[in-house]
Amino acid sequence: MSQPKIFITRLIPGPGLNLIKEHFPSPKIWTHDLPPTREQLLERVRGVDGLLCLLTERIDAELMDAIGSQVKVISSMSVGVDHIDLGEATKRGIPIGHTPGVLTDATADQTFALLLAAARRMVEGVDYVRAGKWTTWHPQLLLGADMVGATLGIVGFGRIGQAVAKRAQGFDMRVIYHDPTAESAYNAQPVDLDTLLRESDFVSLHVPFTAETRQMVNDQFLSSMKRTAILVNTSRGGVVDQTALHRALKSKQIFAAALDVTDPEPLPMDSPLLELENCIIVPHLGSASKRTRDQMSLLAARNLIAGLKGERLPHCANPEVYK
Ligand code: DGY
Repeated sequence: MSQPKIFITRLIPGPGLNLIKEHFPSPKIWTHDLPPTREQLLERVRGVDGLLCLLTERIDAELMDAIGSQVKVISSMSVGVDHIDLGEATKRGIPIGHTPGVLTDATADQTFALLLAAARRMVEGVDYVRAGKWTTWHPQLLLGADMVGATLGIVGFGRIGQAVAKRAQGFDMRVIYHDPTAESAYNAQPVDLDTLLRESDFVSLHVPFTAETRQMVNDQFLSSMKRTAILVNTSRGGVVDQTALHRALKSKQIFAAALDVTDPEPLPMDSPLLELENCIIVPHLGSASKRTRDQMSLLAARNLIAGLKGERLPHCANPEVYK
């Protein structure tokens, strides 16, 4: 049997790459730090049997046309699949692989890191020291928010939302959540969104990015939050209306925000959000621990290999493709 043609859109971590090479020795790999441009991507995917992509690649009908009908699998090294037109893939019989589960803890840790950093004004503190402004211990210097006894409102109570609730128990926080589809866990109490926004000291977003959640954090959402509240987003940037968020932060409608994700990514350097002291932004690092990225690469590799062998993907984002 001739070797299947494979294109991998970036140099993924060793465990996944080595596994692919054990099965199929010569995959084509885009080894540059920056992703291929759209034109380069459309060119490179032509005629491949398997594509391993990241969340930086838009996988839509045009791209599926460019690949061709011989394609057996598209495997994304990500749990989120909002960059992929799943309906179109299903229509064409293409199974889509993704990497659920393995990044839950890393993303929940990152959520807590951001929550604490915003609450205790960590970045302002670092900037203060680096700017040579630290002259004495001052009883009113950079006062932030307490965790113990505070209410954490989790919007979207799937795997990651629940892992955040678990961590909050260790901080003696009261946890409430809004997710009509989820059962309670870790003593979290289900509430409607208005109650969550009215009562939360911290609001953490864990919803998938869909037509329903696009810009759900808008003027109305933000004005329903406490003036002392902190917003944390480790889901997708498009869930937040960034213009509304800028207004809310600048006018102190809310106390602070900490964003792991923005829209677009990277955030342009002229974004007014970058001028605000009460807004922490990091470059989409939710799953960025060594072990987690190794595991993501392994899951993505397993999905790719299974698809190329005509087997059911271990983690398929569009299981209806098998019906
Ligand atoms: C994912 O896999 O969807 C995450 O956003 C990566 O950190």
